[in-house]
Amino acid sequence: MKFIAYNVRQDEQNYFEKWAKENAVPVKLVTEELTDENLPLAKGYDAVISFQTGVYPSDLFDKLASYGVKDISIRNVGVDNLDLASAKANKIAVTNVPAYSPNAIAEFSVATLLQLLRNQNIYRKRMAKNDYRWAPFVGKEIRALTIGLVGTGRIGKAALEIYRGFGAKVIAYDPYHDPKLEAQGLYVDTLEELVSQADVVTLHMPGSEGYLIDEALIKKMKPGAYIINTARGSLIDSKALLEALKAGRLGGAALDTYEYETPIFNHDLEDIGVKDELFNELVALDNVVMTPHIAFYTETAVENMVTIALDSAKAVLETGTAPTLVE
Ligand code: NAD
Ligand code: COI
Repeated sequence: MKFIAYNVRQDEQNYFEKWAKENAVPVKLVTEELTDENLPLAKGYDAVISFQTGVYPSDLFDKLASYGVKDISIRNVGVDNLDLASAKANKIAVTNVPAYSPNAIAEFSVATLLQLLRNQNIYRKRMAKNDYRWAPFVGKEIRALTIGLVGTGRIGKAALEIYRGFGAKVIAYDPYHDPKLEAQGLYVDTLEELVSQADVVTLHMPGSEGYLIDEALIKKMKPGAYIINTARGSLIDSKALLEALKAGRLGGAALDTYEYETPIFNHDLEDIGVKDELFNELVALDNVVMTPHIAFYTETAVENMVTIALDSAKAVLETGTAPTLVE
């Protein structure tokens, strides 16, 4: 058995090497993300360990099957950009890491809300100019707010615990009702109901085909409400969000994911800058906290992403299945 891993960062390397030694399975490490050009490197390997890339080659699974690869193990949660039907047709197993550290993302989402509530962008800019005054940017406390969770899966539940620790009132919308949370009266029936009551709308669900937060829904949000998105950029109509922020209808937005993030996030664009004007306008606003999809990025999460993905690939090859198999 031997594996090839793409998109391997420096901070992952030790975990790969440790696992390979402990399990006596050779793992070739490739730093570049998986592309049409470097896909042939996978010839002769049993499994490919990949990390969410912008766009996977369209014939990925046809080619992998022709190379003899039997498994692709993704070391992140989202498999939204993989053609699962093609994987099935080619008899290639797909695994992900559904829970490498829900707390990493939940904590980050709350941390960025705090930055908004305490006007951190404004104070950072002021201090850079040696202006240390307070007024008039008085902050808000979380316990005075109603938090609206959209999605009560692993990350939503971790966020719920944190918000309860702050003493906030929490409500939630999810088509699936967790019986324990249902008994606590957490759920409202519709998304419209949630946004009409919540001071903070925080997204913890998978990416969707169309927008979840569009112009019409933004109009139904409480004036001055905040949006937190550590889920997927595709959930929010960014243009409608920008307009609402500029018009002062919303209090702010913390965006760790962005609709058109692929050519921007996790790239060094120091020399060329960002050409996306929508992005530049959003980032320039004092009431936007934009981060480059780093909510997941903690030591605990990185170690789990690498080792669980490798364990999954090994399990598929040895037993034909794995607890993390994506159906
Ligand atoms: P999960 O599968 O445990 O939970 C997702 C929840 O969303 C489920 O309860 C599901 O019923 C609910 N849901 C589905 N459709 C919905 C809808 N239309 N409205 C409301 N709720 C809906 O997933 P998770 O581990 O909590 O992760 C959630 C998402 O977070 C992932 O799908 C991924 O997109 C994102 N994520 C982001 C990062 C990051 O670094 N920013 C890291 C990991 C995951
Ligand atoms: C995920 O695990 O789905 C994430 O969003 C993290 C990202 C680095 C791919």
